Amino acid sequence: MTVRIAQISDLHFGREIDTIVTALASELSERAPALVAVCGDLTQTAREREFVAARSFLDSIAAPTLVVPGNHDLPGWRVWSRFARPWRRWRRHLGSEPFETATAVSPGLVAVGVNTARSWGFHPDWSRGRINTRQVEESLAVFEESSSSDLRVLVTHHPFLLTQASRTRGMVGRSAAALVRLKAKCDLLLGGHTHLSYCGAAGGMVVAQSGTAFSNRLKGEPNGYNLIDADGPRMTVTTMQWNGSKFEESARNDFERDDTRTWHPAH
Ligand SMILES: [Fe+2]
Ligand SMILES: [Fe+2]
Repeated sequence: MTVRIAQISDLHFGREIDTIVTALASELSERAPALVAVCGDLTQTAREREFVAARSFLDSIAAPTLVVPGNHDLPGWRVWSRFARPWRRWRRHLGSEPFETATAVSPGLVAVGVNTARSWGFHPDWSRGRINTRQVEESLAVFEESSSSDLRVLVTHHPFLLTQASRTRGMVGRSAAALVRLKAKCDLLLGGHTHLSYCGAAGGMVVAQSGTAFSNRLKGEPNGYNLIDADGPRMTVTTMQWNGSKFEESARNDFERDDTRTWHPAH
């Protein structure tokens, strides 16, 4: 049984390109994924009108969605809001508790979403994120309850894998400890934040990163999203990029897992 996930990220409503928003909405209905994983940064500055636009886009998706926040979904330099009520608009428009572990289940698939964005930290760069022990343990509890034949997916905003091109964008804090705990219990880690699409294996899991779906905050590559097709021990990550008039396939990477549930690139 093949399970298909569409991974979209860094929507950044407020900086969206309308033509691409429309094109992506019809792609998502045409490709008929079992799940659309939305990897954060739904808005540019967490403004009311940006959340309204994000909500309306999510409502237009027919497939089930699993949505996590990103650092841009916090009130930026509006310091009072950032400290006193950082997630007020998220709660109002997304209707979910930002730090509650979210799950989505469909035949052959179990996905967990955790919030890696933080309203402040003991460092000057508050765009950084982290995953804490509770979030890892709650994700593991969901995976352990699922069937071993289910594809197990963890959705975050901050990445578990960086490339040379994305090395200046921080990896999710405490990623090393999380990877050790998740090893052989999770199959796929989905993230965003870098606005770059790439994938690879880390900690024995497949890590897939998608670029900015339709915002003009480009970091050296076109807008894009990923389609992930998994069938038992095989998985393919297909990157779709905007070519100026439509989305087209720009890369395809195959992975396979062994009987210790360790994933690696297929030869
Ligand atoms: Fe972003
Ligand atoms: Fe981000």
